[in-house]
Amino acid sequence: MSLLLNSSFTGASSACLLHRKTSRHRGRSHVHGVTCRQGGNDDRSNAARQQRSPLLLDRRDMLLGGLGGLYGVTAGPKVLAAPIMPPDLSKCHDAKAPALHDHCCPPYDPSETISEYGFPATPLRVRRPAHLVKDDQEYLDKYKEAVRRMKNLPEDHPWNYYQQANIHCQYCNDAYYQQNTDDVPVQVHFSWIFLPWHRYYLHFYERILGKLIDDDTFTIPFWNWDTKEGMTFPAIFQDASSPLYDSKRDQRHVKDGAILDLKYAYTDNPASDSEIIRENLCFIQKTFKYSLSLAELFMGDPVRAGEKEIQEANGQLEVIHNAAHMWVGEPDGYKEDMGDFSTAARDSVFYCHHSNVDRMWDIYRNLRGNQVEFEDKDWLDSTFLFHDENEQLVKIGDCLNPTKLRYTFEQVPLPWLGKINCQKTAETKSKATTELSLTRVGEFGTTPQALDASNPLRVIVARPKKNRKKKEKQEKVEVIQIKDIKVTTNETARFDVYVAVPYGDLAGPDYGEFVGSFVRLAHGKKGSDGTQEQGAKKKGKLKLGITALLEDIDAEDADKLVVTLVLRTGSVTVGGVSIKLLQTDTPAVI
Ligand code: C2O
Repeated sequence: MSLLLNSSFTGASSACLLHRKTSRHRGRSHVHGVTCRQGGNDDRSNAARQQRSPLLLDRRDMLLGGLGGLYGVTAGPKVLAAPIMPPDLSKCHDAKAPALHDHCCPPYDPSETISEYGFPATPLRVRRPAHLVKDDQEYLDKYKEAVRRMKNLPEDHPWNYYQQANIHCQYCNDAYYQQNTDDVPVQVHFSWIFLPWHRYYLHFYERILGKLIDDDTFTIPFWNWDTKEGMTFPAIFQDASSPLYDSKRDQRHVKDGAILDLKYAYTDNPASDSEIIRENLCFIQKTFKYSLSLAELFMGDPVRAGEKEIQEANGQLEVIHNAAHMWVGEPDGYKEDMGDFSTAARDSVFYCHHSNVDRMWDIYRNLRGNQVEFEDKDWLDSTFLFHDENEQLVKIGDCLNPTKLRYTFEQVPLPWLGKINCQKTAETKSKATTELSLTRVGEFGTTPQALDASNPLRVIVARPKKNRKKKEKQEKVEVIQIKDIKVTTNETARFDVYVAVPYGDLAGPDYGEFVGSFVRLAHGKKGSDGTQEQGAKKKGKLKLGITALLEDIDAEDADKLVVTLVLRTGSVTVGGVSIKLLQTDTPAVI
């Protein structure tokens, strides 16, 4: 069933007014006074209540009940404020990305000064789905002309197409260290700054394109891969004579209507197109549903200035987004352009893809009554540098509401928000129980284990508490936590996580329900001798909400769960699997 949303529901909103002022204080930009109208009586929440979406049933109760906990983020005790700050631009080092065959540092102009960004005062600009603009010749001509001009700018111009693309490499392939450190890179992936940084990145790219064709209303399109009609590679990027074209793509995927597989890991899914579409919609639904009550599950874990030894944890939206990178990039070599962070933004479809990622964040926010995802100052005060549309170096930390940047998204149906059959059918379940191959699975223990593609890791994990009451579920979300995940950074890695109820201490042959995935895109560096470096082994962590899943599979009374990790690509070692109860930031239990 597809569900058309009320026009006041999606898109940027003014329901939440962010009263934010910036002031200069010891050379830093500080943001204070974030206030947000209570969600219970705004139009958007009313619209949400009317949706009858399975995602929102309990949230409806919560809103009607007017629980005071909507903004009840409990932050742990913190000693020093440590938002991520912009790096010293004079100190770009050779971020020698192997796929680039070169480094990606920009030309540096010491005479440039940093100023605050003057937010645009344009009419609200509407980003449209890429598959729907393909017949709008006037728009396409403008878009192509803008990109053509960007490509024709002098090579060292900050607006030059390849300079713009290099920005992505700089903030991913360790071109800059954080202020006051000489070994902690500024990294804009794998954490809670992933979404805000990319929002700004796209915003400036879009504004510069508009400026180049002198059109203040210009917007980039979004790759509407969360709907059946948008799940193929957008045709507007396929014309080989267009500036939007990029030859470094997996030709099998970008041609002739192949369906994007959001679980892609360099092996084509043998399922039928309609099955892949259903799986994609389910993956998106689960991503929202399982993470709705705790923003870090969707957006990623905190990262604070100077932190070195943290276990990076990206949110499930970033996980989903990675699949499109892998699916579009070349299947071999360095997976250029989209499949490697250092080259990804050389493909125009990058911005179109990220426009949808940004839209997903906007929808997530709307579904949660427009509350600020993290009230932590270290998130709110994170500050980045970009060349804006006036060719100034700017410093900003304020992008929580797209309306402030004067853009929004065209309203389109959200089929994944409706009722789709994403659970295993009763038939499959009973079949699994009658099969003989029950196996004994142990606990994880304390020794790190390497995942093996031909032999999934299955462990039995005790739950902290069973048969939790509704109120307990509103206060705490049950989360599978996989820690000490080690991957090689120059290789893309992915594993999928499934959950099943054991039969006594035995696991059935069926892995159970898909919960979510871990994905790290390759972001290796070239060694000083020009050969590819082994790639530092960085540790990561994966957190997946399962409160709603356990309700869906009727497993609330299980003492233990069988967790299965299926390696899909790369080499991965994990250090532990546990189930925890984490404080929610909204009482929504969906
Ligand atoms: Cu910066 Cu799609 O990644």
